[in-house]
Amino acid sequence: MPVASIADFRAQARRRLPHFLFEYIDGGSYNEVTLRANRQDLRELALRQRVLKNVENVSTATNLFGDSYSMPVALAPVGLAGINRRRGEVLAARAAQAHNIPFTLSTVSLCSIEEVAAAVEQPSWFQLYMLKDRGFITDLLQRVEHAGCTTLIMTVDLPVIGSRYRDHRSGMTASANISNQLYRLQQLLMRPRWLWDVGLLGGPHTLGNLNSMLSQKASLADYQRYISDNFDASTSWDAVEFIRSHWSGKIVLKGILDSQDAQQASTSGVDGIVVSNHGGRQLDGALSTARALPAIVDRIAGDLTVLADGGIESGLDVLRMLALGADGVMLGRAWCYALAADGERGVAHMLSLLKDEMRVAMALTGHTSIASIDRQTLCRR
Ligand SMILES: Cc1cc2nc3c(=O)[nH]c(=O)nc-3n(C[C@H](O)[C@H](O)[C@H](O)COP(=O)(O)O)c2cc1C
Repeated sequence: MPVASIADFRAQARRRLPHFLFEYIDGGSYNEVTLRANRQDLRELALRQRVLKNVENVSTATNLFGDSYSMPVALAPVGLAGINRRRGEVLAARAAQAHNIPFTLSTVSLCSIEEVAAAVEQPSWFQLYMLKDRGFITDLLQRVEHAGCTTLIMTVDLPVIGSRYRDHRSGMTASANISNQLYRLQQLLMRPRWLWDVGLLGGPHTLGNLNSMLSQKASLADYQRYISDNFDASTSWDAVEFIRSHWSGKIVLKGILDSQDAQQASTSGVDGIVVSNHGGRQLDGALSTARALPAIVDRIAGDLTVLADGGIESGLDVLRMLALGADGVMLGRAWCYALAADGERGVAHMLSLLKDEMRVAMALTGHTSIASIDRQTLCRR
């Protein structure tokens, strides 16, 4: 079936992926209140239709952290994304490069930073989780620099992991007892295309950036255990100083949702923030990003580059985030659905659709450049 929207890619991903992997991407934490609010609060923002503004030449081009991009959209870091398709992170990085937008590799990706860097010319952004082992962090930063990355996305909203009910129910995080293993096997057998493409031919199924920390025989469950044992809940603002002293490129703090934290970020020597609640996967009941963003932008006006993510499902949503004051946005689930549905072609197609939707939305709100989009682009319902 031809796809017209991100929602269509989601439907295809559901048909293509084993149930527990679809639930892993699609779900949020606890009762998913924040996951739903991210979407709803964004959609409720009414766009101000304007006419007779000569919108013959609309450009979505922009600049982020000193680099020019074709639109103010980056692919967000998604752990285990490579499991959606064979060597999935490489495929998504290629699609991002074809569209001249940034791709962000998660610390907990299947493909290592070296594997991704070898497949593209455009440097990726790299997302860092603070792990307890600081020696490992400094080694990793060197590898990332070696791979040509200049922008580090330091995720700060995951000192502990929010419980995701769907992952327990689907068998994704449940124990390795025999009945759970049979349940997962049953789900795998119902998706033979995925089983062939990724399960049988898509290895190694290890977390490429962490390979040096675990034995070659470690299973994905061993990696999951390693990660949850090694997230550093004692992380504080000192960690930003630590990273600054080991990283000379740009630093962007991801997971800021409060204007007081944004203020502190602006005095901490970082270059930007991502206003994010981890796509509703951490503190359920936290504000949606659409609601949190305006106060943050007002507090740090112009000091830092502000990206935002959470709930973006169309080019119209991108415009809404920009109207609220973001300089750019990140997409999480959207690119994973497209990757699962149709690999590199799927991600490239999704980005084309998004850009076309943005162009139309800009034209019908009377904008020909990203720079002129502001809160006047929205109106009261
Ligand atoms: C399956 C999944 C895995 C994620 N893994 C990471 C990760 O490894 N690092 C990180 O900083 N954020 C991670 N995130 C959060 C995303 O980077 C992003 O903030 C979020 O998905 C944005 O919301 P959206 O999915 O509604 O676009 C993950 C999100 C999802 C859905």
